[in-house]
Parts: sequence; structure tokens; C-alpha cells
Amino acid sequence: MNQENRVMATHLIPRSYRDFGVMRTAVKGEGIYLYGEDGKAYIDGCCGALLSSIGHGNREVADAVYKQMTTVEFAHPSRWRTTASEEAAAELASIAPGNLNHAWFGSGGSEANECAMKLARSYFVERDGSGSSKSLCIARWNSYHGSTLGTMALAGNMGRRRTHFPMFKESPKIETHYCYRCSWGLKYPDCGVLCAKKLETEIRRIGRQYVAAFIAEPVVGSSIGACVPPKEYWGIVRDICNRYDILLIADEIMTGMGRTGKAFCVEHWGVLPDIITSAKALSGGYSPAGAAVSSDKIIETILAGSGAFAHGHTYNANPATAAAITATIRFMKKNKLFENSSARGEELGRSLHAMEDIPIVGEVRGMGLMWGVELVENKETRKPFDPVKKAAAVVTNACLERGLVIYPGTGQIDGIEGDQFLIAPPLIVTAAQIEDIAARLREALEVSAEKLLK
Ligand SMILES: Cc1ncc(COP(=O)(O)O)c(C=O)c1O
Repeated sequence: MNQENRVMATHLIPRSYRDFGVMRTAVKGEGIYLYGEDGKAYIDGCCGALLSSIGHGNREVADAVYKQMTTVEFAHPSRWRTTASEEAAAELASIAPGNLNHAWFGSGGSEANECAMKLARSYFVERDGSGSSKSLCIARWNSYHGSTLGTMALAGNMGRRRTHFPMFKESPKIETHYCYRCSWGLKYPDCGVLCAKKLETEIRRIGRQYVAAFIAEPVVGSSIGACVPPKEYWGIVRDICNRYDILLIADEIMTGMGRTGKAFCVEHWGVLPDIITSAKALSGGYSPAGAAVSSDKIIETILAGSGAFAHGHTYNANPATAAAITATIRFMKKNKLFENSSARGEELGRSLHAMEDIPIVGEVRGMGLMWGVELVENKETRKPFDPVKKAAAVVTNACLERGLVIYPGTGQIDGIEGDQFLIAPPLIVTAAQIEDIAARLREALEVSAEKLLK
């Protein structure tokens, strides 16, 4: 079937009709591999979008979901408790840091972040009364927090938000820690981590009485490609939030669930947010899931006030999803996947740094099993490729030809320029598989360099 016929034959609205016509159909998943209809095996080198952390075709999780679906598949959360959802919340609390002991469950990351914003607002209303003016959530440019109108207005992924921008109630934003292309042309550590300190400037400009929260991804995911902050960053923003009576929300939708070698990434810097949001790997990809995990402080304030959190979706605390979450976390614990993420991540990082000799590899960055590569036309000047060259797509296709799936991104410089990709295999990956991934990627980058630089 030609491309046009393939598109016309579907009733599904795909993300892109152009891409859909040439896309492979996934027919099977097993371990770190996805299989196309042509029978070819592809290494899922980015876990879809950093979610298939326990790999594909996991029987333990699938059986747990089946068992729950054939016991109680649904009971509306406004009228029923379920053991499944309370067990999942307890499992999540067992791996969440400090006093983050209370989970709200929804169907994905966008819902988790919407919930976090409302939790922050509710905390101040319960504490200070309905006249509280604290409602704004400050976020950062080059961030992604979801695709609902609320989370798109919050986030600063320039390319993704343009079409719908006129529909937003815009949130305030500060620059992020993109050291490779620092907004002020400074160098770490001489910069004094100015990007973190700018949060204070923004709060003072707006007025602390209007600001409820600051939200950020601990390692910037798809918007820049595994951009790791200076080690002082999270300590500085935590301190600013404390001084100005503002809640700190860590969006761990990509970075959480062991992706960076600890259950949640902020633990690397010993910082405790007031709310952590999780999704993606939370249910291993076996059921649509998202969670906002809240501190005791927020829940105690709600309990001492109205005793109600005015927020709900039909599918929130869904028992089948809860079963997937519980089984995923138990599988991760039993197989020490956070530890494996750390060990295999070091190996992957070493292999990627060894690729810095390839002329289009501008920067390699990341931690744990979350790595990003920024592609440039000129390594010395850091000049990006002309967007018409579609450098990220060229590398992605070269990887696909070699049976490796990566996660490309563009526009991190100004919404238009900039090419990068994420490489983040499942946490079950072995040392031998890391070598295989690295070999396929090196070949793809070398072939792409020849093509792009000629
Ligand atoms: C950091 C981050 N936050 C939020 C989201 C939104 O999650 P979802 O697509 O499940 O709504 C994503 C998804 O890519 C993400 O990477």
C-alpha cells in the first residue's frame, strides 16, 4: 500500500499524517525489543518516551492487571475505596523520599501536573482562607509538563506550544540551566548558578503573595535532551521557595522511577520537594498512569481545613492501573532495577562520551540511564544545523535502519533551531546490550555525520 492509501485506510487520528504513512506497525514486544510487522527486532533505546522501564511483555505485571480486571475492574472513586489503589499508594510512598506519603492517581503525566498545581493552590486556600491570592506557578523555558491547556501554558517547550498559545492563561517562566548555551553567556562555576537565583528575581517582580509554586524537571527531558543541572541548583531553588513561602514541585515524570539511578532524581542532591509528580514508568507502560505525590504538610493542612481536595477524574485511582503500578514497583524492587540503572548508566555514559570524536556530536549529557546528545554543525563554535537539514531526523532514521529506536527533539535553542536526541533504554538492560546499543548508535552517528556535513 502506498503512503496515501495507508493513511486513508485508518480511522485513527494520528499525531502526524505525514509520519503515519511510513510508520512501522508494532506487533510484539519482549524485553528491550519491539518487533515490526516485517519481523525485524528493534532495540527500544528510549523506552517509547522513557516509560517502558521494565521492558516489554512482562508477565508478572500483565498477570497482576488481568487478575485485578477480573476481580474489580472499576469502582467509582467518589463512592468506593479499593484495596488495589491503596496498595499502589503505599508502594509509591515506600519509594518516595522523606514525608512524601500521599498519592493521587490519574491517567498520565499531564493529569499529574494539573493535580499538583491544584494541590498547591488548595494548600494555600486551606491554610489562609478562600481569599488567598497565591495561585501562580512559576516554571521554566525549555521545559515540558504535558499537553492539556493548563500544563502547556505552564511549560516552556517553545515548539510544542505555538499552535495553541492564544488559548493559554500564561504562566510566568525563568530561564533554565542550559549550560552548553547559557542564556547569559556565563560559565559554571563562575556563573554562581545565576539561573537558579533568577527564581528569586521573578518572585519579587510578581509579588510573593501571588506565587503558589515553582515547578521544574530535575533533569530536563525531551525539551533539551537530558540536561543535568549544576549540583547546587536544586538546593538553591529549595531555599528560595522556603524563604518566600512557595511550594516546590519536582516533575519526575521522566526522571523518576529509577531512571537516574535513584527512585527519584532529586534524591541525588538531598532535596525534598513538597510534591513530586510521576507517570510514564510508574506503571511500566502497562496501563495509563500518573501520580502527584504530596508531603504530609499539604495533606495535614487539607485535613485540618475542609477535609476535601476538590479535584477528580472518572479514572482516578483506577484499580486496574493501580495493580499495574504496584506490580511494576515490586518488580523494580525485586530485580534491583534502580541499582542496575546506575551501573548500566555509567557504562552507557562512558560509551557515549567516547563518541565525542564524531564531528556532529556537540555535547553528551545525562545521568543514570537518561542520556542526551546535542547535534551541531560545528563543534568549536557550537553552531547548530540549519533546521531544513533535519539533523535529528537523519540520525533517528540511521538508528532505525540499524534496529535502534531513539527519541529525537528539535528547537531547544529558540523553538526552531537545535537538534538533539535522548537515549534511555529499559532499566532491565544488560551490560552486553549496552555495548550493542553503543555500537549501533556509533555507526548511525558516523553515517549521519558524513551525510549532514557533505
Ligand atoms: C517531564 C514531563 N512532564 C509531563 C509529561 C506529560 O505526560 P503525559 O504525556 O503522560 O501526559 C511528560 C511527557 O512527555 C514529560 O516528559
